[in-house]
Amino acid sequence: MKGVVLAGGLGSRLYPLTKVTNKHLLPVYNEPMIYYPIRILVNAGIDEILIVTGGNNAGDFLKLLENGKDFGLKHINYTYQQGEGGIAAALSLAEFFADKDKIVVVLGDNIIEGNIKEAAEKFRNQKDGARILLKEVPDPQRFGVPVFEGDKIIRVEEKPANPASNFAVIGIYMYDYRVFEFIRSLKPSQRGELEITDVNNFYIREGKMQSDVIDGWWTDAGTFESLQHAGNMVEKTGANKL
Ligand code: DAU
Repeated sequence: MKGVVLAGGLGSRLYPLTKVTNKHLLPVYNEPMIYYPIRILVNAGIDEILIVTGGNNAGDFLKLLENGKDFGLKHINYTYQQGEGGIAAALSLAEFFADKDKIVVVLGDNIIEGNIKEAAEKFRNQKDGARILLKEVPDPQRFGVPVFEGDKIIRVEEKPANPASNFAVIGIYMYDYRVFEFIRSLKPSQRGELEITDVNNFYIREGKMQSDVIDGWWTDAGTFESLQHAGNMVEKTGANKL
């Protein structure tokens, strides 16, 4: 199983912080944001990692991360996303790297307290399909939100005005190789992006989606409020360590 960290996009919600640097290089308490998602993958036993970056400061990732020795890695792969075509557009750049293997995808601005070891192990043993992770949140309208029928997820809605549940689909996704075929058939959403939620709905429609609720806190860090919240949580309780 291979890992992909998506650290492209323009970070426009954090302007002017992101005017001269990439969002994922900003500090979350005492470390650059990108350290947290990389550790999520390494802690799940994944050592083949691709970082998809973009914008004006792509070179800084190399300077910061080098070949990943601070994470116990021998090598890190990098690729470049032009513009801000959406999460699924960024992921499409990982097709060559994935080479038909299963992948775990982590959004570069997602931070968790614990780890995803158990879910990753379940996905290793899952024959095919996909797996998403959920967390109960006070503000589901900011995220992808699962709609349940009994215990079963029947679809995910992206940033719904009236959320059907109090869960967020967090930015850690597990996919088999068919993800790239699904991405090819996507059309841009109203915000002009290829949406990861549409990819998840492909798997749900085919009856190939599993899910887990994660333990410990989770947050994104892509707005002023959530960036500050993330820093406070890391200071207070610490986040995932190697
Ligand atoms: O954090 C979880 C949420 O992330 C999910 O619940 C939503 O379903 C999902 O759409 C996403 O929502 P956001 O609107 O908050 O995503 P955002 O545009 O902030 O992008 C999150 C990360 O994805 C960003 O830090 C880097 C990566 N990304 C994003 C875009 C738009 C890219 O690599 N390239 C892109 O073009």
